[in-house]
Amino acid sequence: MSFTAPIQLPGLSLDPQWYRRAVFYEVMVRSFVDSNGDGTGDLGGLISKLDYLQWLGVDALWVPPIFTSPLRDGGYDVADYRSILPEFGTLDEFRELVTKAHERNMRVVIDLPLNHTSDQHEWFQQSRQDPEGPYGDFYVWSDTDEKWPDIRIIFTDTEDSNWAFDPVRRQFFFHRFFSHQPDLNFENPAVHEAVFDVVRFWLDLGVDGFRLDAIPYLYESDEGNGEGEPPTHEFIKALRAMVDKSYPGRVMIAEANQWPREVAAFFGSEEEPECHMAFDFPVMPRIFYALRSQRADELVAVLSETTDIPPGAGWGVFLRNHDELTLEMVSEEYRQAMYGWYAYDPRMRANVGIRRRLAPLLDNARAELELTHALLFSLPGSPFLYYGDEIGMGDNIWLPDRDSSRTPMQWTPDRNAGFSAADPGKLYLPVVQSLVFNYGHVNVESQLAQSRSLLHWVRNVIHVRKAHLVFGLGDIEVLQTDNDSVLAFVRRYQGNDAHGGIHYNDQPETVLCVFSFAHNPVAATITAPGMAGSRLYDLFGGGVFPSFDENGSLTLTMGTQSFYWLHAG
Ligand code: GLC
Ligand code: CA
Repeated sequence: MSFTAPIQLPGLSLDPQWYRRAVFYEVMVRSFVDSNGDGTGDLGGLISKLDYLQWLGVDALWVPPIFTSPLRDGGYDVADYRSILPEFGTLDEFRELVTKAHERNMRVVIDLPLNHTSDQHEWFQQSRQDPEGPYGDFYVWSDTDEKWPDIRIIFTDTEDSNWAFDPVRRQFFFHRFFSHQPDLNFENPAVHEAVFDVVRFWLDLGVDGFRLDAIPYLYESDEGNGEGEPPTHEFIKALRAMVDKSYPGRVMIAEANQWPREVAAFFGSEEEPECHMAFDFPVMPRIFYALRSQRADELVAVLSETTDIPPGAGWGVFLRNHDELTLEMVSEEYRQAMYGWYAYDPRMRANVGIRRRLAPLLDNARAELELTHALLFSLPGSPFLYYGDEIGMGDNIWLPDRDSSRTPMQWTPDRNAGFSAADPGKLYLPVVQSLVFNYGHVNVESQLAQSRSLLHWVRNVIHVRKAHLVFGLGDIEVLQTDNDSVLAFVRRYQGNDAHGGIHYNDQPETVLCVFSFAHNPVAATITAPGMAGSRLYDLFGGGVFPSFDENGSLTLTMGTQSFYWLHAG
């Protein structure tokens, strides 16, 4: 397979706010391509597919942890922050990845779990053996397991307490996640220094930023619930100040699975910024809710709640990622409804969520795949794709925990889906062979050969999005419609963005986005007095639509689960 890249000068664009215009792609190194036939994906494999990612239109990679690790939590259990797990590759190969990505104007953002380490980390080994030594205070130790009973348990499938007894030190240690992942003690200034050193180490290697894993959980207190406590925000501010001063243009992305107001807090303020980006956890489950309830109201409510963020900050929007589709941020009633629709087999559930991939969740319905992607690419913020979802890859719910949706990328109909030349039994996880999602027909090669495949459709919509800066940079106004199944919003960009001393000659643009979640064709009247007389044409094919009338009202007919992106002028 060969890909022709769009013509562009080699090297990175200078825009310090590049992340607001970027399309991100989460790529698990372990799952993407195995270059040396040992059954595990590696950096060499990822480098060999940069042409593919560039062809797709990807501007930035999010690479989950590749540090040395016992891999008891997909690498989020770090045993050494300064080395790469040998089966994934070497630091030199990582440098090569960064260089080759940068040559293609593609950024590399790595995952950084700072809240906890693996119990195999040298810091923990020393801490448990020598309470008086330099690492004695690196973790959160206690003589009882009764402290902070109000702190919720996240991994409800495997853990029944946030405390575990260490037989060596004969004390309990605190863990927000697995009991083999002790939490670092952020009350200890030496931990801050150690963490800052790790951050500098990777920035010096050339990474363009970090996904700050599990960032709300750094501090615990007697009064709070251990999520987004004030000193956690103070720490993030200090980290941001260091990054801005010494490494301008690199980004910090918050993984904070919280309610709208609390997630927005991770942006900080204009004067005291925290993260450049935060994942939009409140919006994500509501997209899936809208699909099955055929109602737009939950999305309308949440979109109206999360508009007010500091200049330069941006949301990271996503449909799926390497974790379960979390239902923590919906009400109990809606959660039960979503389990009924999307996880009717108990095997599909994990913790408070659903461990399935996008295409199986949507029962492989092309209309739903297009509708959800159209939303993803037009909501405020930057879209994050999960590897394999661009070809509608399936999952394997017979595998444990979140491995169900971390199976090898399907490249070809050949052995191991073209992922690896190893004996199939040696793969880190088996390839998907289910009836509907078998790699024999769901793979990149066969979708490249069909002009109407999902892959070509996704690539096209990415390129349309990128041709209209309003999607990345514009603001949003949710409009009134008379149909409960129809969501309408308008994105507006004033043009001529200026920041960091750089001016852009961008054109102003206004785009009307309309989505119907109804399972039948419907008509809807949209009311927007500010758009009276506005003329509309379709962004994909240029087709002219009826205009808003002089009262700002527009009636559209919509096919089953369909959408429009209409230029308004
Ligand atoms: C984050 C990661 C998840 C991991 C957890 C604990 O939520 O996304 O995969 O298990 O942190 O490290
Ligand atoms: Ca390998």
